[in-house]
Amino acid sequence: MLEQVEALMREYVESIGDSKSLELYDKVPKGKRLRAKLILKIAGESIEAIELASVVELIHAASLLHDDVIDEADTRRGVVSINHKFGNMTAIMLGDILYSKGFAKLTDLPNCVAKSVSSAVTKLSVGELLDVELAENFNINQEVYFDMIYKKTASLIESCAYSAAYLAKKDTTKYALYGRNLGLAFQIIDDVLDITSSSEILGKPSLNDFREGKTTLPYLYMYEKLNEDDKNILLSYFKKDLNKNEAQWIREKITDTEAVEDSIKYAKKLGLEALDSIKDENLPELEKIITDMIVREF
Ligand code: FPP
Ligand code: MG
Repeated sequence: MLEQVEALMREYVESIGDSKSLELYDKVPKGKRLRAKLILKIAGESIEAIELASVVELIHAASLLHDDVIDEADTRRGVVSINHKFGNMTAIMLGDILYSKGFAKLTDLPNCVAKSVSSAVTKLSVGELLDVELAENFNINQEVYFDMIYKKTASLIESCAYSAAYLAKKDTTKYALYGRNLGLAFQIIDDVLDITSSSEILGKPSLNDFREGKTTLPYLYMYEKLNEDDKNILLSYFKKDLNKNEAQWIREKITDTEAVEDSIKYAKKLGLEALDSIKDENLPELEKIITDMIVREF
């Protein structure tokens, strides 16, 4: 099934009739295809489900091409990123090609699906803008963080679950809630992995988020528990090129305040809420998506 999505995505790009686009597309790292898996698990093996999964994955790939330019990332999923290899202009334009093709194919799907996915893409763009703005100052507001991760990550996953349920004539409200909580938990785990994973696994330096000014949930939880002196020390490290001792100090405080454990606990709580919303739907595989997502290394 997932192979069919992979093949259709490539077919869509091939249908543009531009060999350069296809050549570049083939160099884009593939990823976990979480969104496609989710759609296929909810909607089953229909042609429309495969089409929706392909469209969403093309749009998602486009958003990451742009994100890597914005974040000045050298790698994506452990391999050299398109922007690093071919320059920002190529990465941006390839992103434009992939998302406009995705949108063109989206218009072949039911109107209600097209509306949901396109409005989610607006949200994710607003979320990305918020993410960039939040990194300008040391953000300690948890509500603002949750709003940003909802928009940046959960909105598209919510729309995938909603749209797949719509195609399969299932309860769209229940699945949308499942998708929203899964998406929030997914981003929290991503933010935790930036602290706990080794740089080899992540393909980027560890504590990278903090270096970029991003105070993700573990930092927000840690900050809450620090005394005034330590709060000031942490503030003084904001966006600094951390040396070994400073990085070590941050790690120690994260351990002392149990900020990672509390973040994982919160992600698990969201995972359970996600499962609760579809408990009567009898789809054990959706449970596996949640557990795989929470106990992952990258
Ligand atoms: C990854 O965040 C980024 C996103 C999930 C969304 C990016 C969205 C845009 C750039 C808007 C443009 C949209 C289109 C369709 C072109 P991250 O930096 O926290 O995650 P990472 O560690 O995987 O880079
Ligand atoms: Mg990024």
